Amino acid sequence: LDQYKAPPRPELFDFHGVPMVNFFTDNWDNIQNFQARPDDILIAAYPKAGTTWASYILDLLYFGKDQADNLPTSPRLIKTHFPVQFVPKSFWEQNCRMVYVARNAKDNMVSYFHFDRMNLAQPEPGDWSNFFQRFMEGKVVFGSWYDHVNDWWKKKESYPKIHYMFYEDMIEDTGREIDKLCSFLGLSPSAEDKMKVTGGVQFDNMKKDDMANYSTNPVMDFKISPFMRKGKVGDWKNHFTVAQSEQFDEDYKKKMKDATLQFRTKV
Ligand code: A3P
Repeated sequence: LDQYKAPPRPELFDFHGVPMVNFFTDNWDNIQNFQARPDDILIAAYPKAGTTWASYILDLLYFGKDQADNLPTSPRLIKTHFPVQFVPKSFWEQNCRMVYVARNAKDNMVSYFHFDRMNLAQPEPGDWSNFFQRFMEGKVVFGSWYDHVNDWWKKKESYPKIHYMFYEDMIEDTGREIDKLCSFLGLSPSAEDKMKVTGGVQFDNMKKDDMANYSTNPVMDFKISPFMRKGKVGDWKNHFTVAQSEQFDEDYKKKMKDATLQFRTKV
């Protein structure tokens, strides 16, 4: 018998100015023509910023109490890693709520590196120093972290129905961030329900959930790295050399000019 051979890793190519892979562009016209409904909620994040975490929170807030056979069909929770300019226009036309999650660039980079190692549908990450360089140049799937977080941040000025959350805040006080999210969504869960959600979305609980840990996903190799990997702020210190951290900080200052957008690399 022939040995099973994994399909080759996809290549990055420029797509309307953003590095992408075919899996996310093949269906482009259908995606752009997506018909949003006014009560749809778009959950947006740069890859590895906490997309799954935010989705899980919203999922429990809206559907946590319901039996699987009795699930309401709205609101639809729709996840995306798109930079803001790629969001299908009907989301804006329908005035949908959007929840954006951002994570400090250093930890985001580390998480993305491990993700590209274990996800065979992502381009080869290369070694750490190679990935480090490419991340700063924005040559990764969904493009530049710097553009992504900045462009979504700026969009809030003209489109106030964006709730911008930070991974570090969620780590620091999950309950407080859920309260803020609920007030944005117009939800007022009972104290008991809120406790259930806050507890249910802790890292160790989500890690046990087969939906959250992606254990049934055939393109991920969990021998290389788990999807629910560490869930910490500051793991970048275990990856960046002192020289890399300095080079990074220097470059960061040039790219992040907007003083109103501040990230924390420790909590
Ligand atoms: P690490 O690789 O640093 O562990 P995304 O869902 O956008 O792909 O982001 C994945 C990152 O979010 C991973 O980071 C993952 O562990 C982390 N994450 C997911 N759920 C979490 C939770 N409940 N608490 C803390 N981190 C969580």
